[in-house]
Formats: sequence, C-alpha cells, structure tokens
Amino acid sequence: MTVGDVTAEPGPDARTRPQSAIEKFLRVRELTDLLASRLSPEDQIPQSMTAASPAAWHRAHTTWFFEEFVLGGLPGYSSPEPIFRFLFNSYYEAVGPRQPRPQRGLITRPSVAEIGDFRARVDEAVVAALEAGRVDERGLELLELGCHHEQQHQELMLIDAKHLFAHNPTDPVYVDRPADPVAAVRGETDWIVVVEGVAQVGAADPAHRAGFTRDGGSRDGVSRDGVSYDGFSYDNERPRHRVWIPGGEVATRQVTVADWKQFMADGGYTRPELWLSDGWAAVQTEGWDAPGYWRREGHDVGSASGGASAAAAVEWTTFTLSGRRPVVDAEPVCHVSFYEADAYARWAGARLPTEFEWEVATTGWEARDELDPDRCHPRAAAERAIGGVWEWTASAYLPYPGFVTEEGAAGEYNGKFMSDQHVLRGGSALTPAGHTRPTYRNFFPASSRWAATGVRLAR
Ligand code: AVJ
Ligand code: FE
Repeated sequence: MTVGDVTAEPGPDARTRPQSAIEKFLRVRELTDLLASRLSPEDQIPQSMTAASPAAWHRAHTTWFFEEFVLGGLPGYSSPEPIFRFLFNSYYEAVGPRQPRPQRGLITRPSVAEIGDFRARVDEAVVAALEAGRVDERGLELLELGCHHEQQHQELMLIDAKHLFAHNPTDPVYVDRPADPVAAVRGETDWIVVVEGVAQVGAADPAHRAGFTRDGGSRDGVSRDGVSYDGFSYDNERPRHRVWIPGGEVATRQVTVADWKQFMADGGYTRPELWLSDGWAAVQTEGWDAPGYWRREGHDVGSASGGASAAAAVEWTTFTLSGRRPVVDAEPVCHVSFYEADAYARWAGARLPTEFEWEVATTGWEARDELDPDRCHPRAAAERAIGGVWEWTASAYLPYPGFVTEEGAAGEYNGKFMSDQHVLRGGSALTPAGHTRPTYRNFFPASSRWAATGVRLAR
C-alpha cells in the first residue's frame, strides 16, 4: 500500500467499506489538503482573532500531532525539525513550551510550501512505520486519535477561514456553489416526548469497540441505535452511565432563519428580560442585533417611514464561504452564541435541552448535512435529523461520573477544558463526514459564535 494507491481508488462506497489504518489515515490527510487547496498562501497566514488560527498553522499542528504522538513513540525517532515542536504544539504542557496562541499569525516561516513538505514527510514516515509493523497498540490508538483530531481541525480551518474572509471587503469566495431552490418552511415545529426515567448515555468502553488493529486493518463499529460508525469515542464521551431524565419534549427540527427573524422583529435583541446577565452584557459590548455574519442591506428606511413597514423593508444578507448571500428562511439559524440561543428559547416560551435529553431524543435520527467540500453551508432544516449546525445545550461541559484522565500529554486533549464552557451536540455542515454521532460532545464558551452553531428547543 502506497500513497498513490489510495488516491487512485476513492470509490463512492469509501465511507462504508472497511478501510485499513493506512487508508483511513491518508484519506483524512488528503481531505485537509483538498480543503487547504482553495486557500492561497496569503490566505493561510493571518490569524483573525485569538480564538482562531491560521490555516497554515492548522495544517502544521495536525502534522505535529502525528509526529509527536505516533512517530515520537518509535524507538530511535528524532525530528529533523525540532523547532516545530515549539511552533505547532497547541496547549500540551507535558510536551513543553510553545508559541503563544495569540501570535500564531506571526509564524511566516516555515513557509506555506515548507509546511506542505512537513506534511509529506510525516505522511511517508507514518505509512512506512505502519507497513513495517513498527507501531504498537498504543501507537495505533494515538494514530486513530490523530485522525479524529485532524478532522476536528478541518472544521476549525473552515470556520477560521470564514472569520478571516468576513473581514475582507472584497467578500472572498472560498467555494462557489449554486443558490438552493427555495424551500418551504413549515409554520410550527413538532415535538418528541422524552419520557421521565433513567437513561443510559455516553459511549461504550473502548475495550468493547472497533478500532485500528495491529495487522493494519480496522473494523467498523455499530452504535447502540444501529448507526454504523468507526466506533471511536473521545475520553469526554465516557464512561457510559445512567442519568435521570425529568421528562419533557424536544423539538424535531432546529430553529430556522424564519423563526429567528420573528424573534428579532419582536425586539429579541433589545429586551433585557429575555437575557442572562452575561448575555445582555455581551449584547451591549459586542453590539449584537442579529446572528454572526448577518448584515442589514439597502436604503435606511427606518427613520423615514417607521413602524412595521420599515421592519418589512429590511433585507438581511449573511457572509458565507461562497461570499455574501441573502439569508435563507428555511435554513437553520447559524452563528448564534449560547446566550442568544438561551434568550431565543425564553422568548419562545421554551428552554434549551440538556445534553442528556438531546442524546435520548435524537437516538435513531439521521445524521445528515455533514461536510460537502463543494458546498460548506447548511442545507434547509429537516425533521428528526441532526447535522447542519451544532446545537447548544443547557449543559455545562463537565466530566462524566468516573471520567478518567489519560496518562501523559494525551490526557490534556479534552479534560482540562472542563470549566466555563457549554456542550454542543450533533454536527455541522463543516463537520467531516462520519464524525457526527449521538454521544459526541463539542464545547465552546457561552459567548462564542464563530463556529456553525444553532439551536434546538425543548420544553
Ligand atoms: C472541541 C472544537 C473545542 O477547538 O480546541 C482541537 C477541538 N481539540 N485540537 C478545540 C480540538 C484539540 C476543540 N473543540
Ligand atoms: Fe489540536
């Protein structure tokens, strides 16, 4: 098996047929390169805010992860470019000091081309080690973690590129896509009852799941609701445990742009009684009057004509990875913070689901609208489905009872961020295919809204 073999045969059934560890690794690496190929070297260097990273840095950091955790575990391995350990370590204290996060955009050397060389060098070394059977069980676990890590960074690279491009008055187009046919929006959402009682949540013990195997193969797993996926889970999804569900209802579709316009027209962003204190403070300091990337267009009719006719004349556009476009009523609302999601729910006479209600209610639903690299934008909201936008939950991001922090640097991956963040569930139109699963726990601070984040109600 060589790199060439894999690029030559990416069949349509690539997601369902069993893949070797080498194939899975190379497919993940190739998708990063495809996504980065739409960005010029100039696009790949700037860091538009502290929370975002340059595309070049994402490409190098994901590569460093394999070098550090997989190649670094091979007897006698030493990196020919040891400074990359400093430049591309994100937050691992156990690895050592690193480039300060806010200064990632100042790394103009190595060049973007040299980062491409770094990627190719590590790919070859990883494949050679796998072919030679030199990667032990722990190395294979870390290789699998590295693949899922790179998938997370594929999404981060896209939301960071969108944030960067949104600051450019030329409205850059990352991917040109045709406008969708106009979809009808149903008036009322349906609700699914979540019965009061004890429920099992979380991912199965890794000992009972499929994964990369020593002979270079990899088995596909099947989740408890019959959805096929590769059986991987992060430590923060474990252990599987029982929780008490108080009973309630969860909406069968996500809150749409049409819904959100009603909230705005009803003074959603100007009524402090709808907001948490920190949320209201964010509205003031950030000047929020609409979801992220939305812009009011056209002539200022507000002061001249006034009243409802003025509101009706307002037209909104939003910045997308295909440039600036009119907002689309049937799409799920996107780029809202936890605070906005919470205020919307209060306005609607509802609330946000807990992460456990969410997991119970959505079990068996279709995971759809994951990343299509030729689209990179949510489709119209669908019934009884997850995907398109991440969904804020009411739950704080906390360890599950019995959570175990792994030994060493890998233990820093998720666990040390379990304070002051909220759990998001599902997946988005920028989440790589196969990554969305019922137990997945994404997390962001409550004020964050540059990721593709939306809302589902409960009551
Ligand atoms: C789960 C998206 C919050 O951005 O730090 C990347 C993903 N973890 N590298 C993050 C992640 C390690 C993580 N989020
Ligand atoms: Fe990372």
